[in-house]
Amino acid sequence: YSLLERNTFGIDVKAKSFLSFSDPQGLIQFYQSNPEYRDMEHLIVGGGSNLLFLHDVDELVLSSDVSGIEILKEDKESVWVEAGAGIDWDEFVAFCVGNGWGGVENLSLIPGKAGAAPVQNIGAYGVEVSSVIREVHGVDLQTLQEKTFTREMCQFSYRNSIFKQEWKCRFVVTSVVFELTKKPEFKLDYGDVAAEVERLGKVSHSNIRRAVIAIRERKLPDPDIIGNAGSFFKNPVVEDEKAHTLKAKYPDVPLYPAGAGKVKIAAAWLIEHAGWKGKRIGQAGVHDGQALVLVNHGGATGQEIFDLSEQIRTDVENKFAIQLEREVNVIG
Ligand code: EPU
Repeated sequence: YSLLERNTFGIDVKAKSFLSFSDPQGLIQFYQSNPEYRDMEHLIVGGGSNLLFLHDVDELVLSSDVSGIEILKEDKESVWVEAGAGIDWDEFVAFCVGNGWGGVENLSLIPGKAGAAPVQNIGAYGVEVSSVIREVHGVDLQTLQEKTFTREMCQFSYRNSIFKQEWKCRFVVTSVVFELTKKPEFKLDYGDVAAEVERLGKVSHSNIRRAVIAIRERKLPDPDIIGNAGSFFKNPVVEDEKAHTLKAKYPDVPLYPAGAGKVKIAAAWLIEHAGWKGKRIGQAGVHDGQALVLVNHGGATGQEIFDLSEQIRTDVENKFAIQLEREVNVIG
């Protein structure tokens, strides 16, 4: 089974076995009737927008293709909506904004499926998806039972959740319940968002969506045109003291508060100032509009992109004494 269309980096690898299912019971029944697969390792592939394959995949590849968007309950102030894991994320955002519901408009145009959103707690332009998630539904592969995590159980933090930690190999997301607001509440304090919205007219959920789309289209490469998986690294979170030492030496380094005694540093700035922005080695490269994004200029292997990322990490560490951690999931 070719995974070429299943990863936005456009890496041409194959899977030995592949299972697509359209509801939780479908997955449970598959394991019940094929018990030999229960001992086999598996890999969950959604939109493949956060994966880098190094070689062919021996694991069973699972694709949660649960569809449907359903309103569970609503009152004057808010609405609870359940989205199948296989719903395209941006289609879901468009649906919410189209209905006049707020909460996800800042997360417009993020590639991937709704089911992946809680796993890495997707975030952009001042909003993390954890702020609107109420429940995550799925299958516990150990017990083969359906299981629900409430928001509190998900242990959300920056680009992280329990689904990337203890439950990594054990839980498959099948749907996500969101609580959206009907109130005119807006998040405009990140970067160019407010200025872009002002250019479009009045402040509204739909103008925030249009503004975010415009900003993303300017800065980020379209994976349909040039292979990439968004930010390749996380923005490193360091102790206050370390950030201030860095700031003393490099006054323009962008820093963001990240909780008590912690500061988040813009990794894109570090990579750019280590001289990597727009560089390429063979077919693997660093995007010229956003240094945090690695790209496949065409026909690169996963290993080539990985090797480039390691060179960047080494240079950033040598120059700034900061270790970059990957955001993209490397398989192999
Ligand atoms: N910057 C540079 N050089 C660059 C790009 C940016 O110095 O090449 C500086 C900018 O001047 C800015 C700062 O870095 O002050 C931050 O840049 P940006 O607003 O583009 O955001 P980011 O921190 O690089 C994060 C997310 C993105 C998300 C944007 C917008 C992570 C790992 N990445 O990037 O998410 O779209 O914020 O909110 O947190 C993703 O996760 O795949 C992703 C694209």
